[in-house]
Amino acid sequence: MADKTAKLIFDDKEIELPMMSPTAGPDVIDISKLYAQGNVFTYDPGFTSTAACDSTITYIDGGKGELLHRGYPIDQLAKDSHYLEVCYLLLYGELPSAAQLEDFESRVTNHTMIHEQMMFLFRGFRRDAHPMAIMNGVVGAMSAFYHDSTDISDPWQREVASIRMIAKMPTIAAMAYKFTIGQPFVYPRNDLDYASNFLRMCFSVPCEDYQVNPILSRAMDRIFTLHADHEQNASTSTVRLASSSGANPFACIAAGIACLWGPAHGGANQACLEMLREIGTVDRIPEFIARAKDKNDPFRLMGFGHRVYKNFDPRAKVLKQSADEVLDLLGVEDNAVLQVAKELEKQALADPYFAEKKLFPNVDFYSGIILEAMGFPTSMFTPIFALSRTVGWISQWKEMIADPKMKIGRPRQLYQGETLRNYVDIEKR
Ligand code: CMC
Repeated sequence: MADKTAKLIFDDKEIELPMMSPTAGPDVIDISKLYAQGNVFTYDPGFTSTAACDSTITYIDGGKGELLHRGYPIDQLAKDSHYLEVCYLLLYGELPSAAQLEDFESRVTNHTMIHEQMMFLFRGFRRDAHPMAIMNGVVGAMSAFYHDSTDISDPWQREVASIRMIAKMPTIAAMAYKFTIGQPFVYPRNDLDYASNFLRMCFSVPCEDYQVNPILSRAMDRIFTLHADHEQNASTSTVRLASSSGANPFACIAAGIACLWGPAHGGANQACLEMLREIGTVDRIPEFIARAKDKNDPFRLMGFGHRVYKNFDPRAKVLKQSADEVLDLLGVEDNAVLQVAKELEKQALADPYFAEKKLFPNVDFYSGIILEAMGFPTSMFTPIFALSRTVGWISQWKEMIADPKMKIGRPRQLYQGETLRNYVDIEKR
């Protein structure tokens, strides 16, 4: 019996429910036997109060604005670590030794190429396809190319699938981009680090090699690191739900990519930059703030608000600083979009509407400004989020498969439709 219990009283029933205490965060009431005991379901659209799994990977304290990976704060990781080390941490639970890191980096590096036949898949898309549409299709199709790593009951195959996805995602994202701008694909170069290799695959052309600026590659790596995982968000929960049926990992990550694409989730970075451009000048900010507050206007401030953070998103703080550094380096002085962003942030934070609802800038508020300064079009923002988040999806997927409590996800419903009625022939309707 659990130390603490909760009591649920309804009709003539009284049900005692076990409670569980996490290492951090609020206690959890275990309702898994509630239907069997009381013939009732719980109701929680959007899962605002429901913990769907046990996890040891990422912890967020939304009130404090704290994000920890395996206990380590994101700002420390963004400053002192780098993406592949954070990938190791998320996947295996501890920071690697120097030898472990070297081995991991070499395993990832050795899987950066994609099957040559996959090039034909890219060529089947329309040139004006969104790169997310291409990534979604190509990642799903990986299960047709890598048959030797689709058996989820085999830990070795799970490991190979994980490494393959982390290694190949930059190649796939860069190729999706190259395809949409009509340039030849650039093959990966294994003598470059992860971020530099991605930048080169995006911006190099056969007639002119791209020289990677180390400050830009560091900023790229930081963007990857800041997006690496975010516990049970919509796309991660989608990956978990898809894989709960036993589907292969490539299909499950493709499901995560599909979910991430929406403007309320990973698509917000594209939507945010488009909004900042539409605002255009600081004098128009009050008009847009008024629209965001107007209940009859569907407009929302993109890059603002979060389901979990009711304080500054710690990732936004790092990115705000990064935006200044990158624009400085590129000599982009008086960047109009950055000025609008900073002033919008200031005015929104001073407005009682945003204060009362605890709406703060999130990770998407500044990331688009940096990516645009690096030379990426807005359509590449969400693919970059997807490639960064792949390690989070995979770590959560691996954790779930190894969890003895795992069962197929199957939510219930509050049925509001017709009750039993008889079929009526068409001529009588
Ligand atoms: N602008 C104006 N009002 C807002 C905003 C916003 N960006 N976000 C929330 N609100 C209001 C909303 O209208 C509601 O008001 P009321 O209580 O009067 O009806 C209240 O705040 C609570 O909003 P909610 O939609 O119930 O909150 P949620 O937790 O379901 O939504 C969210 C979280 C991120 C979807 C939402 O804040 C939003 O749409 N933000 C803009 C899109 C965005 O930036 N998304 C990126 C999220 S971070 C990256 C990621 O996870 O992918």
